[in-house]
Amino acid sequence: MSRFHIQDSRFKIQNLRFKSTQICNYQLSSVNYQLSTMTRFSNSVTNLRSSEIRDLMSLATAPDIISFAGGMPGNELFPLETIDRIYQSLTEKEKQTALQYGPTTGLPSLMESLSGYLEKKGLPVKSNRLIITTGALQAIHILAKAFINPGDPILVETPSFIGALSAFRAYEANLISIPLKEDGMDTEELKKKLNSTLPAPKFLYYTPNFHNPAGIIYSRKVKQEIVVLLKERDIPIIEDDVYNDLYFYEEDLPEMQLIKAEDPKGVDVCYTGSFSKILGPGLRLGWMLVPEEIYRKCELIKQSIDACSPSISQVIADKFIRQGDVYRYTASVRQEYKKRGLAMIEALKASLPDYVSFEKPRGGFYTWLQLPEGSDAAAILKKSIEKGVVFVTGKTFDPDGIQNNFMRVSFCNTDVETIRRGVPLIAEAIKEVCGP
Ligand SMILES: Cc1ncc(COP(=O)(O)O)c(C=O)c1O
Repeated sequence: MSRFHIQDSRFKIQNLRFKSTQICNYQLSSVNYQLSTMTRFSNSVTNLRSSEIRDLMSLATAPDIISFAGGMPGNELFPLETIDRIYQSLTEKEKQTALQYGPTTGLPSLMESLSGYLEKKGLPVKSNRLIITTGALQAIHILAKAFINPGDPILVETPSFIGALSAFRAYEANLISIPLKEDGMDTEELKKKLNSTLPAPKFLYYTPNFHNPAGIIYSRKVKQEIVVLLKERDIPIIEDDVYNDLYFYEEDLPEMQLIKAEDPKGVDVCYTGSFSKILGPGLRLGWMLVPEEIYRKCELIKQSIDACSPSISQVIADKFIRQGDVYRYTASVRQEYKKRGLAMIEALKASLPDYVSFEKPRGGFYTWLQLPEGSDAAAILKKSIEKGVVFVTGKTFDPDGIQNNFMRVSFCNTDVETIRRGVPLIAEAIKEVCGP
């Protein structure tokens, strides 16, 4: 009996006249077996479910809906003319390279230009190895695959970037969550979790700058405390820094100093970054800067995933750095995101009820609103959708999937006028659900 004909199998069972219940049971259990093993997905995907939020978002179909939900750059901000100019200026040989497979770890020319770019940030490129990846998300996936066996504990922030949480869940990690404060992870909690988690966590994943979703910058003090705690235990750090260039205030640069830049002895730091926010996510280009031993494993893992990242994107990104466009472009989008971020702060201050608090963003894409304990951001989202506005609820970013008294409201993909129009509608929805 073919395993693909459930209807047939049921039909046969219903129409058979069995001589004994034994045969009948045998036949039934054999069909049950075949039904339950019909599509034999892996353990890691069997429990994947469409989230409540995705279901709610499917209601948000109005063509003029205002979206504070996405974490993507504004379409109108992409450097289209620069990309046209770069492509037009490519030689025949460069165009051939762009359409060909390339080395797994990246095209040599981009490796060189990106190294220069990262060195300017004080990153230890010479004493580490660089891999160009298909987005920072792939870098995170590769590192997850390199370290996680099913059930292994790993340390993450609450809240945390949903893409990384999904990657870690895909490798069946046991997520140990550390709450975030306004200057970074609660290191007292980190210490407690380190002392109480056995076996020792495989790594710590954190986002130092303009956190997604919390919007905060880690203080130097918190970063130093993390290093001290992990060094004693030889636990690597994944430092995911895709918003590094999107600071609003130059005076924050010293505070933004990376753990990787100090490359402390006794703790392996895997630094991940991306072209998504400084050029375009459609290129699907990111990178990791890692110690030699980790590099060797990651290279092998990447080989088995995609052989190489898109060569055409790499050729363009290389010129974008070499011709200095990356510096001009990031300087200009920084100004635009700052305008949007400040408009968001102003609109929130003017319309939110007193019981909602938030940290003023100093860069990046996000504001993170805290509602009183027990509030339900999903109910607010439902009301907001009726009013024509969407955002993302807090639970999405909670590794434990519980805390829902937070909302992520992005300002990256909406202009100032739309922010001014949309925020009061969110405030109305909050008041309708939580009170005036
Ligand atoms: C913190 C963080 N890390 C990684 C990524 C993924 O970046 P990429 O587009 O390079 O895969 C994102 C995307 O939003 C992010 O917010």
